[in-house]
Amino acid sequence: MDMKMRIAQRLAEAAQNSYEGCAVTGDDLYAMLEIPPEKKMGDYALPCFRLAKTLRKAPPMIAAALAEKVAGSEIERVEVVGGYLNVFLARSGMAKDIVEAVLAKPGRWGSSNEGEGKTVCLDYSSINIAKRFHIGHLSTTMIGHSLKRIYDFSGYTTVGINHLGDWGTQFGKMICAYKKWGSREMVEQGGVQAMVDLYVRFHAEAEKDPSLEDEGRAWFKKIEDGDEEAMAIFTWFKEVTLKDTQRVYDLLGVTFDSYNGEAFYNDKMGPIVDELREKGLLVESQGAQVVNLDEYNMPPALVLRSDGATLYITRDLAAAFYRMKEYKFDKCLYVVAYQQNLHFKQLFKIIELMGHDWYKGMEHVSFGMVSFGGQALATRKGTVVYLEDLLGKAIDKAREIIEQKSPNLPNKDEVARQVGVGAVVYFDLHNERIKDIDFQWDRALSFEGETGPYVQYTHARCCSVLRKAPDLTGVTPNYDVLCDDEANDVLMLLSRFPETVRKAMELNEPYLITRHTTSLAQAYNKYYFEHRIMDESDLAGTAARVALTDAVRDVIKTGLWLIGVEAPERM
Ligand code: ARG
Repeated sequence: MDMKMRIAQRLAEAAQNSYEGCAVTGDDLYAMLEIPPEKKMGDYALPCFRLAKTLRKAPPMIAAALAEKVAGSEIERVEVVGGYLNVFLARSGMAKDIVEAVLAKPGRWGSSNEGEGKTVCLDYSSINIAKRFHIGHLSTTMIGHSLKRIYDFSGYTTVGINHLGDWGTQFGKMICAYKKWGSREMVEQGGVQAMVDLYVRFHAEAEKDPSLEDEGRAWFKKIEDGDEEAMAIFTWFKEVTLKDTQRVYDLLGVTFDSYNGEAFYNDKMGPIVDELREKGLLVESQGAQVVNLDEYNMPPALVLRSDGATLYITRDLAAAFYRMKEYKFDKCLYVVAYQQNLHFKQLFKIIELMGHDWYKGMEHVSFGMVSFGGQALATRKGTVVYLEDLLGKAIDKAREIIEQKSPNLPNKDEVARQVGVGAVVYFDLHNERIKDIDFQWDRALSFEGETGPYVQYTHARCCSVLRKAPDLTGVTPNYDVLCDDEANDVLMLLSRFPETVRKAMELNEPYLITRHTTSLAQAYNKYYFEHRIMDESDLAGTAARVALTDAVRDVIKTGLWLIGVEAPERM
């Protein structure tokens, strides 16, 4: 059980002993306990005004009553300050408890079975066919990947879905352009970029010769009708895109369980449109079929165009129903930029209006924009930063730094990849999702401050301490040497890690884990600089400090893993 839970239980016992018939539980108090802003105010604080209503007493009185009754070996003393009850944990005993608890589940500290028997679908990355993977897709890819790991770690069954953007008239135009000016070799060699070039050329030529638009539409019609030639080219375009993109996914270590995208739902929209109609939700508007959402302060959602064509939202409706039927999800998360806020609000509202209460499990996990040295990304202006180029450059820069710092490192290429990619991913996941990010090389790749390389370096430092440790078999650690403030900071961060994982999941915010892991690295470095780990004259103390180092190494590695960053053992 985690330390905070134990304190909450102790306080609940005290409340029950102070107030007859009091129904306050450990879980209630767990949710109320705060971490005070300063260490001198205790390790945890209970804001008693939150109990005032239930207990019908003034907060300072509640704090005083609890202070008198609370007992337990984990608590050294308590202090009443205004309406707060500040709790100071007993340091001896605590170190042993925490370090041993962490080391008892290597790689699993913070994991739980909270999600057992429940399923989460995560829709992330969701790239568009025949478009290059640019840094605008970094956040959806990495937030989604991290959340998938967090949910896995908490016992959920997870389904990672790359909802491909593989439908639309642009594909007709692309085939038309390919037939006129392209060749197999050109696309095979040039990959997605060749398709992009064809598309650009189509538009340039169509300005001179508008009849091309009709040809493009005709090709799209052929795709819709399942024409053999059109389908063959289209399928091949998809394969080339996925193969190109796979290189980036491989660098990032990102995987999916399903690539069912927009086209997959072609034959699955009918029943849903019928249901909408039967339930009286479809109305005609200028020949098109829409769902009216005036009442909810939203513009109408266009479901069928006047020519009967379906839209993005029609496909998302079909996808939601399919996912419900196929996976029986408890949650279905859409990791998509905030520009699509309205789309998802409409989508969820329509399902609610259809009377399916599983809409409650659907959530739009939105995020802000990524810019690059202050420049937003615009495809047409040529300022696009492709993810593959960005990662390549990060790896090169990391290699330069490694070359300077540790020229004798054996696996320099691999470490350069781990550090370069890690720096980019960390940078993307170290702030609240909704904040815009301005990517800067020097900040991302610095070995100081809140950066990926800094945290990775601390992990490597722990590994190096462990390599240098003397043989400690048979030595019983003396945990009393871990009672100082610096060790205590490290211990508290280890102890609170599971809580952070839970919170990150509850809010779908990986950055909480990034921050916590960074604080742990900072606290350990402070400890490391102020205390000697190895002391030949005191093997029992050495064993305790080495065990602490091992626990830190393990939790940093887990924290980084949860945000999709690797942890090299030497760098
Ligand atoms: N392909 C879309 C885009 O790049 C994102 C799709 C998100 N997922 C969804 N189910 N709508 O903007």
